[in-house]
Amino acid sequence: MQALNDSLRGRDFISIHDYTPEEIAYILEVGVILKKEQKQGIPHPHLAGKTLGMIFQKSSTRTRVAFEVGMYQLGGHALFLSPRDIQLGRGETIKDTAQVLSRMLDGIMIRTFEHEEVLELAKWADIPVINGLTDLLHPTQVIGDLMTIKEHKGQLKGLKLAFVGDGNNVAHSLLFGGAKVGMDVVIASPPGFEPNPQILSLAQQDAQTTGAKLWVVNDPAEAVSDADIVYTDVWASMGQEDQAEEKEKQFLQYQVNQKLLSLAKKDAIVLHCLPAKRGKEITGEVMDGPQSVVFDEAENRLHAHKAIMALLM
Ligand code: CP
Ligand code: NVA
Repeated sequence: MQALNDSLRGRDFISIHDYTPEEIAYILEVGVILKKEQKQGIPHPHLAGKTLGMIFQKSSTRTRVAFEVGMYQLGGHALFLSPRDIQLGRGETIKDTAQVLSRMLDGIMIRTFEHEEVLELAKWADIPVINGLTDLLHPTQVIGDLMTIKEHKGQLKGLKLAFVGDGNNVAHSLLFGGAKVGMDVVIASPPGFEPNPQILSLAQQDAQTTGAKLWVVNDPAEAVSDADIVYTDVWASMGQEDQAEEKEKQFLQYQVNQKLLSLAKKDAIVLHCLPAKRGKEITGEVMDGPQSVVFDEAENRLHAHKAIMALLM
């Protein structure tokens, strides 16, 4: 355990791909402990005196609240840095921003468009940089998701997760997550909207150590068949709103509704990273139905992010 603590301290959290299966399992374990402590009212001020800066170039409810409240519960402080207010929004470089923030903060969380911006920030910052979502990846989401699945299913290894919809940032991080924990992940996307083949191939390489199967299909029924977890996300991600109307026609068959869900295992659970567009990628009936765990999933962002911060910062 000391070895894992040492290997995690000071690291960036940019992609699940960068972490070993043991490190991911340990982050999940710590998330469970912190959740228990919080529920039992046991103080856990692991980050007393520390400050996290949070840069959001895109909207957020869950990620912002989870990091901010999480930091508070860990005895530290979180600072919301809107691009409208900080000089980054007026053209100060990421490199300069990284160096300045490193002198005052203990960690930076950033949500932005281009993944390269997070890499650039991490390159120049000498404090941990946490990826709070890019167009390419959403790794903190998937740590919360894995925690939720383990909570409901008692295990991760050997399960089958079917992601139905756009081969997007969440789908990419689920591929990496599955690879690290030995959970099979199948993505069902319309032709032309499959996940990035380079991500799939990297994740498949990762999966060789855990035996997870990762693959992509176009048929949602085929993907969902026998699944333990059915997962979906919006068809048009943040920044792609102009494509939403056009995409809706191509994604009609990819709605997670009662009919599609009936093809999964009887005890399958339904996840959605949220926010959802009810009546589009998921019906209200499924989202509010007995198999849905989407609000447990949202809550677990808090506990999962606390684990990431407590271990890295
Ligand atoms: N799932 C998620 O990241 O939600 P927010 O966009 O509200 O942070
Ligand atoms: N794929 C979605 C996830 C939102 C949390 C987006 O990027 O907008």
